[in-house]
Amino acid sequence: MGRFDGRIAVITGAARGIGFGTATRFAEEGASVAIIDLDETAAAEAAARLPLTDGAKAVGIGADVSDGGSVDAAVARVVEELGGIHILVNNAGITRDNLLFKMSEDDWDLVMGVHLKGAFLMTKAAQKHFVAQKYGKILNLSSVSALGNRGQANYSAAKMGVQGFTRTLGIELGPFGINANAIAPGFIATEMTDATAARLKMDVDEFRALNAEANPVRRVGFPEDIAAAAAFLCSDEASYITGQTLYVDGGAKLG
Ligand SMILES: NC(=O)c1ccc[n+]([C@@H]2O[C@H](COP(=O)([O-])OP(=O)(O)OC[C@H]3O[C@@H](n4cnc5c(N)ncnc54)[C@H](O)[C@@H]3O)[C@@H](O)[C@H]2O)c1
Repeated sequence: MGRFDGRIAVITGAARGIGFGTATRFAEEGASVAIIDLDETAAAEAAARLPLTDGAKAVGIGADVSDGGSVDAAVARVVEELGGIHILVNNAGITRDNLLFKMSEDDWDLVMGVHLKGAFLMTKAAQKHFVAQKYGKILNLSSVSALGNRGQANYSAAKMGVQGFTRTLGIELGPFGINANAIAPGFIATEMTDATAARLKMDVDEFRALNAEANPVRRVGFPEDIAAAAAFLCSDEASYITGQTLYVDGGAKLG
């Protein structure tokens, strides 16, 4: 018996990284999974790699979460191809880092569009089904950068916005059997942090080692660390937890 037997989970930005790690964990625990990502081929390839249990299905769908038409079509396909929707993980994300005086209007709009508008559009499309069936789990990806991070005015504003969005979802949707929570990861080894290393002209291993050294638990995080917390928050064991943001960061922001 898995915690997600018979459940259908939709995870955005899940062709790789934290999203794929979470999709893998949900599949291991019995879920059918829809992977949504920008490129349909990459999404379908990732879906084909999931460790599905007997009777569970997976699908990869190409969609841009910052586009309303694309989101509505993607959610309709999930319901049609997998037979419903019980869990939504708003994970798709991008960075466009720069110091404020060099940050362009496009850098601001793109980051807000994917993280904030994307989570809004996906949640709006999914909640129709959640409310009708009086059951749903929503998980949003915030970040320790929500607390402020040099070079990330756009990203930190979006990630703190995600926390406010999550609290409001908790209040509005609680009466309908829907839980909404957020995870704020610290440094997780993915292509996103590898790209940061490249931007800082640092070797990936050196960048990870520096971050590990500065962390109270003396290591970087991995997608599996976020997936474990995600599985708990999206399970029925967490049904009295809503509107919360859980920092999964090895204690990075404690000091
Ligand atoms: N890696 C970290 O250290 C870290 C820390 C804190 C928070 N996060 C957050 O976790 C989430 C996942 O990060 P990751 O490290 O796995 O990143 P990643 O770059 O490895 O993966 C992000 C995925 O999102 C997809 N994506 C981007 N824009 C999209 C759009 N408009 N529509 C659909 N898909 C889109 C990308 O194609 C990619 O597959 C993001 O929201 C990120 O901000 C990551």
